[in-house]
Amino acid sequence: MPKVTYTSVGGDVDVLEGNIGDSVMEIAVRNGLPGIVAECGGSLACSTCHVFVREEDLAGMAAMGELEDEMLDGTTQERRCNSRLSCQLKLEADVHVYIETPESQV
Ligand code: FES
Repeated sequence: MPKVTYTSVGGDVDVLEGNIGDSVMEIAVRNGLPGIVAECGGSLACSTCHVFVREEDLAGMAAMGELEDEMLDGTTQERRCNSRLSCQLKLEADVHVYIETPESQV
């Protein structure tokens, strides 16, 4: 099973398991994780699923699309080089990825 470790700004750590094909956002929302709002439910229309991906995990993620790239310029917390929208991060293998959630999403 794919696994995601989510770390909040305050240092809270949650390790959650998902299914192959789940997105990092879906696993968080399904488990009621604070820090990922996902207002649009994953249709790439809200930017409230912004996360920071551990550098070494970025290469294993699907490439960023043009719309995601544009939307990351409008997030509440300033974009970093490892910013992604978690609804676009599908876990297609039995991986363990590390995610940091921003201070706020809205
Ligand atoms: S959930 Fe809305 S853009 Fe990701």
